[in-house]
Amino acid sequence: MDNNKTICNCMDITRGEIIDAIKAKNLKTIDDVGEATEAGTVCGSCQDDIQEILDELNLG
Ligand code: FES
Repeated sequence: MDNNKTICNCMDITRGEIIDAIKAKNLKTIDDVGEATEAGTVCGSCQDDIQEILDELNLG
């Protein structure tokens, strides 16, 4: 999937930014990602997408 795609429209955070934060800080939960990037902290509608990214990275 395109890492330049915006995942969180409220905070204008891309998929690539979320992936980088997860890898750099070993994030495990949506709350972790919210603290690190602010993604998912406003309306919450992007939280399913954030969870999908977490699952992808942490399963492998
Ligand atoms: S789209 Fe991410 S909090 Fe609203």
